[in-house]
Amino acid sequence: MYDIKNIRSQFPMLNNKSMQGKPLVFLDNCSTTFKPQCVIDAIEKYYTDITSNSHRGDYDLCYNMDVQVEETRNTVAKFINCESKEVVFTSGTTDSLNLLASSYAEKLNKDDVILISEAEHASNVLAWFKAAELSGATIKYIPLNEEGRITVNNFRKVISNKVKVVSIAQIGNVLGYLADIKTITKIAHEYGAIMVVDAAQSAPHIAIDFKDLDCDFLAFSAHKMCGPTGIGVLVGKYDILNSLNPSRLGGGMNAKFFKDGEIQYLDAPTKFEAGTLNLASIIGFKAAIEFIQSIGLDNIHNHEIELRDYALSRLSNYENIIMYNKTADSGIITFNIKDVFAQDEATLLNSHGIAIRSGQHCAKLLNEFLKTPATCRMSIYLYTSKEDIDAFVEAIINGGDILDAFFND
Ligand code: ALA
Repeated sequence: MYDIKNIRSQFPMLNNKSMQGKPLVFLDNCSTTFKPQCVIDAIEKYYTDITSNSHRGDYDLCYNMDVQVEETRNTVAKFINCESKEVVFTSGTTDSLNLLASSYAEKLNKDDVILISEAEHASNVLAWFKAAELSGATIKYIPLNEEGRITVNNFRKVISNKVKVVSIAQIGNVLGYLADIKTITKIAHEYGAIMVVDAAQSAPHIAIDFKDLDCDFLAFSAHKMCGPTGIGVLVGKYDILNSLNPSRLGGGMNAKFFKDGEIQYLDAPTKFEAGTLNLASIIGFKAAIEFIQSIGLDNIHNHEIELRDYALSRLSNYENIIMYNKTADSGIITFNIKDVFAQDEATLLNSHGIAIRSGQHCAKLLNEFLKTPATCRMSIYLYTSKEDIDAFVEAIINGGDILDAFFND
């Protein structure tokens, strides 16, 4: 049985009222997530008991920190089934994709194509725009199907020998559809392209097997999975990863450098980790993964889908609610109330202590497809309760004056 009471009791944020003094209902978990006490304790332990840099000293505290960093790296590797040396610590998914795209640009030229989709988050669009600008390569888009999904069939329509990079989200941050990464990767490889997966919205919610997917790179952030902000990973198949040049240079990543400008880099992953790492967050990241594993990703996913279905069943009675992703594969509901601007709806919910996101959700190419300038998005996580969903539904259907249009159907 999914022990929601026990799970919720571990999150201090859930003891708080909203900033308006109402019970706090947090339904913006695609954006970030609350942290359980074990993660907070792990971060505090770094500052109170084990503060030191890593890789820079010959004393016990420093050696201990080296061990802790590598333990987190091993924990990440086991979490997604890759090798430890394939895990690079970054500040998060955005940093990971920027690191990769700017480094990979050196391997591209003006005849090459980078394939993304219009459903991608800004971090997966803009990083590749920059790579295209640096290399002269062209950006092309995998057409979305009528629902807004990336399908294997549509992928086949645009893949060619010119495509050198395919970079898409495993689960989209607006519509919440799961892409068939394994099949798309297989096809991408047949055409000689590398496959890059933005796993920011999938790693917190579904089990990932990097080796089985066979993709070349994968990125995700800790803060969307109960971990600290400012830490994430770029995971890459070792030979390709190690063939890339780092875009950030400094201490800790070089073996030697000379007055004439020659630099000898260390091997991956170290060569991509210039400067002092975000050590407190690395310690907290391990605690977050262990916390998620203690609940189990299958249980988390089932819980989210159950609540999502419950919310949909309650909302489906109201014709003036426009749903954009009824068939999503995750706990994301993207919607509008007819004739109500998305931000007004989010403001109304906020007045009830309910946090959702409105706007374009950093996926600014998608609005043309959705034919709306903005949407509301509620997103569920492992600590979301049925009571949270009820509060959300009640606030929507009892919208009052601000939602006159809703009631004047
Ligand atoms: N990527 C985050 C979101 O979708 C910020 O809200």
